[in-house]
Amino acid sequence: MANEKVCVTGASGFLASWLVKRLLEEGYHVIGTVRDPGARERLELKKAAQGAFDDIVQGCHGVFHVAAAVTLSYKDDPQTEIVDPCLLGTLNVLDACKRSTTVKRVVCTSSVTAVRVRNDFKPDDVLDESVWSSPDCCRAKQWIDHAGYVHLDDVAQAHLLAYTNPKASGRYVCSAINMSAIELASFTSKRYPKHKIASTDEIEVRWPANFKGFSSRKLQDDLGIQFKSLEQMFDDCVESLERKGLLHASNASVACMASKISTIVMIEALWVRLH
Ligand SMILES: NC(=O)c1ccc[n+]([C@@H]2O[C@H](COP(=O)([O-])OP(=O)(O)OC[C@H]3O[C@@H](n4cnc5c(N)ncnc54)[C@H](OP(=O)(O)O)[C@@H]3O)[C@@H](O)[C@H]2O)c1
Repeated sequence: MANEKVCVTGASGFLASWLVKRLLEEGYHVIGTVRDPGARERLELKKAAQGAFDDIVQGCHGVFHVAAAVTLSYKDDPQTEIVDPCLLGTLNVLDACKRSTTVKRVVCTSSVTAVRVRNDFKPDDVLDESVWSSPDCCRAKQWIDHAGYVHLDDVAQAHLLAYTNPKASGRYVCSAINMSAIELASFTSKRYPKHKIASTDEIEVRWPANFKGFSSRKLQDDLGIQFKSLEQMFDDCVESLERKGLLHASNASVACMASKISTIVMIEALWVRLH
């Protein structure tokens, strides 16, 4: 959609930087917020600070809220170090969008942790947009292992579809392939034999028997996404890591395979107001 202006929060992040690239390729004018601004062209980078979002989103047609305090560890208190910044940051952005006279739609990004943290799953359960994590299980850190993977190009495409499709509404699970850690190790060791992949008996299994995994049916049926294959996802990832000199035959492990691949993402499309 040429000449449309959109805002992406947390634009320097892993997911958001791929989304920004995709939006620029599609002709959008992108305003990215980062806490430490740097270079620009058809990309404007603005300082993200509390109270700054009214001016930033005014004039934008859409907002992709991707910024989040993403960390696997905390110093003292997860509430003040992770939960509060994410929650208050999101409310801050949504309030600014509500006050703006131009924003038509907000797309919020989060993790499948919004779905998978429960201790009452049955083996045949399929995890889709109707499932919500239990706050008690989150506090007790009870969850099943990551079980889904998606190409980063598809994550960016899913955001674009959630923004451009007039019918897009509510939550979307974005997961192309369900795979246990053991299946992943087996696939990668066969496909990339020159790399040292963790052997399947080194991997702890917390995947329930017959677990059906996550469903992106809604994203596929309602928004028409066509996911890239498992092979393309991992070939692109390995090629990208090799090109950057990050993957060496001597020390690579399955844990290195982060570039070009994301674990499952939750996307929420919100209509703010029709202008
Ligand atoms: N990576 C994945 O595979 C994956 C999978 C599933 C879901 N997700 C979800 O996707 C979203 C983004 O994840 P990501 O992996 O791209 O994270 P990331 O690389 O850490 O990017 C997040 C960005 O948010 C900004 N940020 C961090 N703390 C902030 C704070 N307190 N206030 C304002 N901005 C802050 C940072 O930008 P500045 O420092 O420049 O401000 C950072 O670059 C999250 O909701 C995550 O749960 C990611």
